[in-house]
Amino acid sequence: MENIIIESKDLDIYYGDFKAIKSANIAFEKNSVTALIGASGCGKSTFLRSINLMNREVKDCRLEGEILYKGENILREDIDIYDIRKNIGMVFQRPNPFNMSIYDNITFALKCHGIKDKTTLDEAVETSLQQAALWNDVKDNLKKSAIALSGGQQQRLCIARTLAMKPDVILLDEPTSALDPISTSKIEDMIFELQDNYTIIIVTHNMQQAARIADRTAFFHLGEIVEYDRTDIIFSNPAKRKTEDYITGRFG
Ligand SMILES: Nc1ncnc2c1ncn2[C@@H]1O[C@H](COP(=O)(O)OP(=O)(O)OP(=O)(O)O)[C@@H](O)[C@H]1O
Ligand SMILES: [Mg+2]
Repeated sequence: MENIIIESKDLDIYYGDFKAIKSANIAFEKNSVTALIGASGCGKSTFLRSINLMNREVKDCRLEGEILYKGENILREDIDIYDIRKNIGMVFQRPNPFNMSIYDNITFALKCHGIKDKTTLDEAVETSLQQAALWNDVKDNLKKSAIALSGGQQQRLCIARTLAMKPDVILLDEPTSALDPISTSKIEDMIFELQDNYTIIIVTHNMQQAARIADRTAFFHLGEIVEYDRTDIIFSNPAKRKTEDYITGRFG
């Protein structure tokens, strides 16, 4: 692989004495979609959250090893965490819009970063809502409360909010698991559109989803990355027995 944007090297993640991620070595190519799969509790979210330093908020969580973003180790003590999170955005399983208007949800972080110009903010709102396939649903109601949107619309708003920051990398932790099939396919279409300009890492329990959208897939088992390869290989001809057992539904 050329053009690596994120890479973990011998990454161990502990909760107290419990080692949730064991020596993860994995590299993500710029402008690609990677799916992280594996049974519940195998460490997918733990790994994903480490990439934009969300674990810093978790008590007793300790990381050893390196996470390189554009070649720089972001586990250094003096790293600017807000800068990292601006460049590496994250969307969670449950839509979590702020209790404010649709417009304000998208402009909130931009304003925190000092952007005040109304034209710039208006443009950011329209562009990010377009990218998240929500513009047509809400363009006449931007002052409406985000909480009044449906679950699928709220999730697309959360994605728009992330996109408005113009990140390089978007981390998605089971973004469609709480959504109906139509909202799910809108988000999958959107991921397909975004991959030309963004690096996307998505945790999913839905194997069809991984097969549809991901260039590469990593299979996690008990805190280890068992296999990482092109998605078509993982699903048609995996090298490891454990991967095959999982994708054919023999466990997990
Ligand atoms: N804050 C925490 N404190 C202690 N242990 C934790 C914490 N978060 C997760 N763990 C443990 O770390 C392991 C990995 O959890 P994680 O949430 O990363 O799994 P996952 O693969 O995302 O699972 P799921 O598919 O159910 O979301 C589990 O054994 C879990 O109990
Ligand atoms: Mg999880």
